[in-house]
Amino acid sequence: MAFQADKIWFDGKFVDWDKASVHVLSHALHYGTCAFEGVRAYKAKQGAVIMRLRDHLKRLAETCVIYRIPVTYSIEDLERAAAETLKVNKLDGAYIRPFIFRGFGELGVNPQKCPVHTVIAAWDWGKYLGPEALEKGVSVCVSSWRRAAPDTFPTLAKAACNYMNSQLIKLEALENGYDEGLALDSYGYLSEGSGENVFLVKNGKIFTPPSSSALLPGITRHSVIKLARSLGYVVEQQQIVREALYTADEIFLTGTAAEVTPVTKVDKIAIGGGTRGPITRAIQERFFAIIGGEAADEFGWLTQVS
Ligand SMILES: Cc1ncc(COP(=O)(O)O)c(C=O)c1O
Repeated sequence: MAFQADKIWFDGKFVDWDKASVHVLSHALHYGTCAFEGVRAYKAKQGAVIMRLRDHLKRLAETCVIYRIPVTYSIEDLERAAAETLKVNKLDGAYIRPFIFRGFGELGVNPQKCPVHTVIAAWDWGKYLGPEALEKGVSVCVSSWRRAAPDTFPTLAKAACNYMNSQLIKLEALENGYDEGLALDSYGYLSEGSGENVFLVKNGKIFTPPSSSALLPGITRHSVIKLARSLGYVVEQQQIVREALYTADEIFLTGTAAEVTPVTKVDKIAIGGGTRGPITRAIQERFFAIIGGEAADEFGWLTQVS
């Protein structure tokens, strides 16, 4: 696993990893003016595939709409560039980070005079919550930090600035000995993890908070909802109270980085006996079978790289 590759696609050209730099007075560096995505490519049976690339790029474009960042490249341009970035770096399984940010122009809060840059980087990034997390699960806490109230930061946007809040949640969790933190929304209902959406299983039914609970409506969340329903499970999106976490039969997190990760403890309370539950496992198996090419790509999620 290496947090590095050879080349980065920077405004339409490949540059050496070490030379992909910006000015220290870039607007994004001071005010978080950056829309970004996290996408995963997998080494499948049929070769390298990218999971839901178009949907990620659409969300990137939507974040730019929300923050009034003019987009220079079409979704098709970025799709091609993402595939090229994998090929140039000889990567098959990889994490892909496309982002669009404001560079250096003026340093006032007004971003309009700052140029817009578009970048795609990719590198080999293993299991986000640790190599054993997918099977053994993770221990989480309920954070004392809340997600942003609806009229403060737009949570439908995947913007760099939102991740200062995520960092507070993550750091608090790590400093207190947990793997991850779950935040409540400003009304006290369950929202999401610092970089993942959350699902609960109770009496055979699956629940997840709605997008109005101050969360990023994850693409993996959407994939898991579709997949779980296709397996015959009922999935409901509804407001969830904190204590429902403690009494859940199973809990799991979803995200491009975290994939489908079981939660085995919340605030030190064991969930479902403290091991990965059967529904979580069934969803993981189906998810990885599709991604790995062992099962048919029935939802049309995969982009073939070569
Ligand atoms: C705050 C937050 N919520 C949810 C997710 C999951 O989103 P996705 O499944 O699109 O990666 C992410 C990951 O990007 C995230 O950062």
